[in-house]
Amino acid sequence: MHILKLEDLTVKIENKIILKDFNLTIKSGETHAIMGPNGTGKSTLSKVIMGDNNYTLEKGKIYFDDKLINDLTVDERARLGIFLGLQMPPSIDGVTNADFLRTARSIKEGKEFKLMQFIKEINSTTEKLSMDKDMIHRPVNKGFSGGERKKNEILQMYMLKPNTVILDEIDSGLDVDSLKIVGEKVEKYKKESNCSILLITHYQRLLNYIKPDFVHIMLDGKIVKTGGLELVTELEKNGYKKILENNTDEVKE
Ligand SMILES: Nc1ncnc2c1ncn2[C@@H]1O[C@H](COP(=O)(O)OP(=O)(O)OP(=O)(O)O)[C@@H](O)[C@H]1O
Ligand SMILES: [Mg+2]
Repeated sequence: MHILKLEDLTVKIENKIILKDFNLTIKSGETHAIMGPNGTGKSTLSKVIMGDNNYTLEKGKIYFDDKLINDLTVDERARLGIFLGLQMPPSIDGVTNADFLRTARSIKEGKEFKLMQFIKEINSTTEKLSMDKDMIHRPVNKGFSGGERKKNEILQMYMLKPNTVILDEIDSGLDVDSLKIVGEKVEKYKKESNCSILLITHYQRLLNYIKPDFVHIMLDGKIVKTGGLELVTELEKNGYKKILENNTDEVKE
């Protein structure tokens, strides 16, 4: 059982408060969805959890299994089993997908993986994801289409075997067939690994495949409402304004 606990996180960028006293606890086997208008701080939250040093915590604590991880670097957090699938995955010139994944997995697990054996494992995973086999020998995300980059994030998730998965708009850019594949594969990974998932999304379509236990509505840097899937239905029907009119209470976990 792993527990990620975010306590009163406050993040400022260029004197603007982006996250404000943000609280959330996520346990193994739980799926939390966060929805919220553009610019409300969802991606900022994901990067702060991962330890991106472009973002400074003004206040607050991040605990992983009761251990304070505020000062841990990105790779130290990755070694604990935290994984972030980025909204906009960058490309890395000169490093092939296969080399990148093998190095990352070796560092995470503290042991070497034989090239041929590792390639075999990647090949079977790319096949499951309906990805082109050639992609693993190309530089990471170089020339990849928007949807291909998103699938590549899921390939990374499968190969790195995290226990805590954050997916930032993994559905954006995917065609309907790819959305189904990605949704089903993430759900399958969750069942196999009992990981926890934090899904950031704008639409219900992803949540048809990956069923959330909790849906949180985020506004101006904090969670303002928590519920179940019914919140998403309400949101798709009426938009944010209506949902928030009916509930101005703060919900804390
Ligand atoms: N490096 C930065 N410099 C200035 N402003 C920033 C920086 N990073 C984030 N912001 C601002 O912080 C706010 C939150 O951005 P963030 O990317 O977290 O939003 P989001 O909720 O993920 O939005 P979206 O749904 O569009 O992805 C935005 O107003 C954004 O412009
Ligand atoms: Mg975002």
